[in-house]
Amino acid sequence: MPKKIAVLIGSLRKDSLNRKFAQELIALAPSSLEFEVAEIGDLALYNQDLDDAGTPPAPWTRFREQLAKVDGVLFVSPEYNRSMPATIKNAIDVGSRPWGKSIWNGKAAAVFTASPGAVGGFGANHSIRQSLVALNVATMPAPEAYIGNAANLLGPDGRVNNDQTRDVLAKFVNAFAAWTEKNT
Ligand code: FNR
Repeated sequence: MPKKIAVLIGSLRKDSLNRKFAQELIALAPSSLEFEVAEIGDLALYNQDLDDAGTPPAPWTRFREQLAKVDGVLFVSPEYNRSMPATIKNAIDVGSRPWGKSIWNGKAAAVFTASPGAVGGFGANHSIRQSLVALNVATMPAPEAYIGNAANLLGPDGRVNNDQTRDVLAKFVNAFAAWTEKNT
């Protein structure tokens, strides 16, 4: 049985480099992984009052139900101001509550960050990892993926334009398949 993986993309913009890299990772993955993108742009900012009142917004419920059914999560994200974008942090927060019902517990994860800058989203990558520690998510330690100079690694068709980068992506997603098999 293939392992089910939700893909969380930190950028909401239409031409997102990270969304393109996410599609490339999915295309290069082995058949032992089955992916679905979990949209996070419509999740209202977390407010515990809505859970306490038993009136969570419909997108929170949809997201929680979708994530509850997967074995693993692939985070593909830009860096915003040396940290993760609020989209990702909010999705992590929404999934972590109500208390005792976190959908994160025991899942496998991998974190991939891409930036047009030189540092490849290192700060975002590690801020995501930091939150996942507290949620008992088994995050793949290596290979790490900080993709710098990302705009130049994609062609006008939105596909990776060179073999070296394609190889990095293939190694990353194959390692994640092995990691998920071992940890879920
Ligand atoms: C950025 N960007 C950015 N890049 C980076 O390498 N380190 C950073 O700390 C930041 N900070 C930052 C903050 C905000 C609010 C924005 C909008 C952007 C630039 C960012 O990497 C660039 O816009 C990417 O193209 C965003 O990823 P997507 O949308 O292409 O996937």
